[in-house]
Amino acid sequence: MTTNPEHGDSTRQWLRGLDVFAGPLREFDPEQAPADPVPLFLSWLSDAVADGVRDPHAMTLSTVDAAGDPDSRVLILKNVDASGWQFAGHASSPKGRHLAGHPRAALTFYWPVHGRQIRVRGEVTPGSAEDNAADFLGRSATARAESLTARQSRHLTDTAERDQALKESLARVDTDPSLVDPAWTLYTLVPAEVEFWQAARSRIHTRLRYERVAGGWERFRLWS
Ligand SMILES: Cc1cc2nc3c(=O)[nH]c(=O)nc-3n(C[C@H](O)[C@H](O)[C@H](O)COP(=O)(O)O)c2cc1C
Repeated sequence: MTTNPEHGDSTRQWLRGLDVFAGPLREFDPEQAPADPVPLFLSWLSDAVADGVRDPHAMTLSTVDAAGDPDSRVLILKNVDASGWQFAGHASSPKGRHLAGHPRAALTFYWPVHGRQIRVRGEVTPGSAEDNAADFLGRSATARAESLTARQSRHLTDTAERDQALKESLARVDTDPSLVDPAWTLYTLVPAEVEFWQAARSRIHTRLRYERVAGGWERFRLWS
């Protein structure tokens, strides 16, 4: 049996003893929910920001690869509006390749202090060259240089080679601040479903899912 060296317990018992939904949790009345999920999302995000939740705009992006195997990683939310939820990444990265082959994804937000989770699923569309460039140019010089090395997630066998490649990319960015990596992509996830999940200490959690229908949204309460 695996034991946690810090606690001397079995890992299973140690995990079971950890608290979850310690709060202070928020209230959620689905009867008061708006007809569109975007304002509700922004309201929950604003609550997280107001209460000092760290990295409140960090979210898990889930994709599937060519074999149908799932993969997930954390990304920063770039924008949300009527068109959908936006995030950015390199088209040649694994997530970029997954999205090129199967342009559908899921996003998961979790704000632990409030006991709130939001799940968004739908089709993903790449941005226009203009939108991609604007997002790229809004990034720091180091981030732009890193992107230009175009090797994200490959095996790193030689850190000196990495440092040299970064140095050369930084020099290119310094020389030409308007240089754009054509593979940098601002993706929009166009939501087909958005689910709001509010934890309760009673463990009778509240769930509300918006499902897109012609011309708008339908709302459904879900069993927890
Ligand atoms: C808080 C946080 C924010 C991140 N934001 C981004 C992002 O906006 N874009 C990005 O490509 N990677 C971001 N990353 C790195 C990704 O999690 C991931 O390591 C990288 O994109 C490679 O993923 P892939 O191999 O699945 O393509 C972030 C990581 C963390 C922990």
